Amino acid sequence: MAVITFASSRKATGKTTCAILLATALAARGRFVTLVDGDPQQSLTVWHRQAGAKASGLALATLPGAAGLSSLAREGRRARHDVVIDLSTDRNAFLACALGVADHVVVPMPAEHLEGGGEPVLALLAAMQSRSAVRLTHSVLLSRLNPLVPASLLAALRRALAERGVPVLETPVVERAAFAAMLQRGRMLETELEGTVRPGQAIANAACVATDLLKLLPGEIPAGTRTAA
Ligand SMILES: Nc1ncnc2c1ncn2[C@@H]1O[C@H](COP(=O)(O)OP(=O)(O)OP(=O)(O)O)[C@@H](O)[C@H]1O
Ligand SMILES: [Mg+2]
Repeated sequence: MAVITFASSRKATGKTTCAILLATALAARGRFVTLVDGDPQQSLTVWHRQAGAKASGLALATLPGAAGLSSLAREGRRARHDVVIDLSTDRNAFLACALGVADHVVVPMPAEHLEGGGEPVLALLAAMQSRSAVRLTHSVLLSRLNPLVPASLLAALRRALAERGVPVLETPVVERAAFAAMLQRGRMLETELEGTVRPGQAIANAACVATDLLKLLPGEIPAGTRTAA
């Protein structure tokens, strides 16, 4: 069970989309998940309300404040629940708290942002880490990736990040109409995405991303390696 924070200093990188994808994938694996909406824009809360009963397996806390977030993380650890935190781009006390309580910070990053210099959240994580004994583990999640981007370019992007010492999750989140429809129409990915193109590919993509992330979380046993007691 883990606390996972989605953070990025740039707008529209896919933070909320990726937080929903991970939370629903965790819930589908039978885990108890609390979604935390830390963005005053509240797009996660709107999605949760629209999804209604379909999202009822996901608890929601809207704008709990830094103290409330610390309590949620503590309670999640005690009850062995997952806590998935979605943030705004604001650099404030809530961001510091959300980075500090996380077992893993995920920084969604569209490929085109790699050209635009460093991601301030990565610099903030490095600064926080250098000031504390605690290891703040984090990964970049390549997001909104055009499905036509060739594998060779993707490999070059990975190399560029690796040269900067930035850990990158194996599977990128591909740009898919089904992902956009999920957030914009307040739907679960698995159901009722009528009119969208190939939701099956989006579902498979989301499952791979969740599997990659789960491998990085503390106490997780990668699928297929469990042995009978
Ligand atoms: N993989 C994807 N495929 C298609 N559309 C996507 C994908 N990821 C995000 N989008 C769309 O891009 C827009 C921004 O996504 P999202 O709201 O998740 O980003 P965000 O980082 O949370 O934005 P904000 O900074 O405003 O909170 C939304 O319209 C969303 O539907
Ligand atoms: Mg958002």
